[in-house]
Amino acid sequence: MSITTGDFRQHVTVQTLADKKRKHEPIVSLTAYDYSAARLADEAGVDLILVGDSLAQVVLGHDSTLPVTMEEMLHHTRAVRRAIKRAFLVADMPFGSYHTGTHQALENAVRFVKESGAQAVKIEGGTTRVPLIRRIIEAEIPVIGHIGLTPQSVHRMGGYKVQGKTAHAIDALLAAATALDRVGVAALVLEGIPREVAAQITAEVETPTIGIGAGPECDGQILVFHDLAGLTFNPPAKFVRCYCNAGELISQAIHSYCDDVRSTAFPTDAESYHLPREARRALAEPEAASGAFGK
Ligand code: KIV
Repeated sequence: MSITTGDFRQHVTVQTLADKKRKHEPIVSLTAYDYSAARLADEAGVDLILVGDSLAQVVLGHDSTLPVTMEEMLHHTRAVRRAIKRAFLVADMPFGSYHTGTHQALENAVRFVKESGAQAVKIEGGTTRVPLIRRIIEAEIPVIGHIGLTPQSVHRMGGYKVQGKTAHAIDALLAAATALDRVGVAALVLEGIPREVAAQITAEVETPTIGIGAGPECDGQILVFHDLAGLTFNPPAKFVRCYCNAGELISQAIHSYCDDVRSTAFPTDAESYHLPREARRALAEPEAASGAFGK
């Protein structure tokens, strides 16, 4: 019996990602945190949707990714799951959900699959993460690695700084990429590293690389939805391409709404519900209506 239905064949899987690297077809990835954005991304043909822990900043208003919790990540991943028909859904393991040990990491990875419908989890960090990533993969859960500028390491890095700029740092990145490739990550996010280093990693590893601020040679690219759509409040990073100014459009719409409510231009009669004719008459002439209705 085949378990591959016609529909399922169109879904993006770990195999699709590997095939795309082999065929040199760029992997299009985007973050999403809610039903509407995920639905727009999925219907536009995005291959991989990540519920990133950037949720902490762009949706919840924190100043780093560190405070977001497992419960918040699960809640948003469920909403995104309901929207997706084709894309591969990855949930980001938040800070503190895998840092206290392999058992904790495995339990939380299982929660993402079981309670939110994620198809893979993403974990920041290099060689030190290999044992726990191995354990999660052994539990049949695909893992996406993430090296370079890893925002959960902001305090260790002393800020959000491009990584891999010295010979020593490049060697460490190459060693991390090789170790993650060997353990069998389904893809590897390369964030905030020089283009030349990302190109070398991409050429050397079997797993597809997905770049953000890592140049065009990566096997795919990822952007944060709010950056792409112009919905952020801080000046964008150098690598961001803003494809529309939704923030400006929405702000104009809200201003117009405020003006219309204050001038009573909204709502109009056409935007109001009406009583049926009899009930309207009863409201206007209560006595006549009680006679008519009383008999
Ligand atoms: O949380 C996030 O949005 C990410 C991407 C930037 C890769 O990790």
